[in-house]
Amino acid sequence: MSSSALPDFQRFRPLRSTAEVRWLNAETGLDGTEFVYPMFLINGENRRESVPSMPGIARLSTDEAMRETELALSLGIDRFLFFGVPDEKDATGSKAWSPDEAVQRTVFELRRRFPAAVAITDVCMCEYTDHGHCGKLTDNGEVDNDATLPLLASAAVSHADAGAQVVAPSAMMDGQVAAIRAALNDTGHKNVKILGYSAKYASAFYGPFRDAADSTPSFGDRRSYQMATSQQIEAMNEIEADIAEGADYIMVKPALAYLDVITRAKGQFPERPLYAYNVSGEFSMIHAAAANGWIDLKNTVLEVLLSIKRAGADNIISYFSIDAAKWIKGDSQ
Ligand code: PBG
Repeated sequence: MSSSALPDFQRFRPLRSTAEVRWLNAETGLDGTEFVYPMFLINGENRRESVPSMPGIARLSTDEAMRETELALSLGIDRFLFFGVPDEKDATGSKAWSPDEAVQRTVFELRRRFPAAVAITDVCMCEYTDHGHCGKLTDNGEVDNDATLPLLASAAVSHADAGAQVVAPSAMMDGQVAAIRAALNDTGHKNVKILGYSAKYASAFYGPFRDAADSTPSFGDRRSYQMATSQQIEAMNEIEADIAEGADYIMVKPALAYLDVITRAKGQFPERPLYAYNVSGEFSMIHAAAANGWIDLKNTVLEVLLSIKRAGADNIISYFSIDAAKWIKGDSQ
């Protein structure tokens, strides 16, 4: 068939002919308000320790984190996800619920200085335990699910006491959302929301994060509590359980190798705001390729972030948030 005989519905190139029609015809887009910016927090003052495997990312003391926050807010990013990297670790991760640690102090400072900002805190033990696992261990070295729940609840309450509006349990312990919800309610924090890391996979893409947070397990791996890559139906069951336990928002993590899970989660649980975590390895591999001149940083990042949105994520947690928001602003001017 010659092309002139093609009916209109088989003609796509008119939809792509100019930047204007491409924009008018866009099914989805990034506006910068979907981003959540993660930060690694350390104690002390004036500290900014760069993370070699994550270009442009540093562990920040509270005062430095406030500088970063100001920049993010100026670009329209108003949600922050905080991770703590303590100076001292122990077997139970007891610094996780200390009011004097970096996360608690930074949340307090953020709420005091920037009333419009939202503090989301990661609730997990792996950054605080000397063995690097996400919970308390039994005598034979297994992560003890039920003994870990009260520790996670204490950490979440300490974050809420500091002023966190959202707590995000990421330990993948069964019943963690219910335990945290009950503890928050008992301590006068009924309005604090829970973002469940509902479908969190045992992923090789967390490598650079574990450098940043110094949280690599000292033995074994996380496959006895994080999900296997093969599982999609189980991810839906995890999300359903989190919602039943009181999760206000749900998450799929990582994002890129799990876009099918994001799409299915949005389809199956359309009433819940869905977060996707564009994790550290997804960040670092793009930087590494761009540094070699093999791909273009900006175009690759925006393509990846848009694919996560198109898959169905309402919100994207990304170390690229600040750069992407700058690029998006620049593009629309
Ligand atoms: C804590 C936690 C991890 C990440 C977020 N929360 C590490 C892990 O589970 O090992 C990874 C985030 C990233 O790679 O950017 N459990």
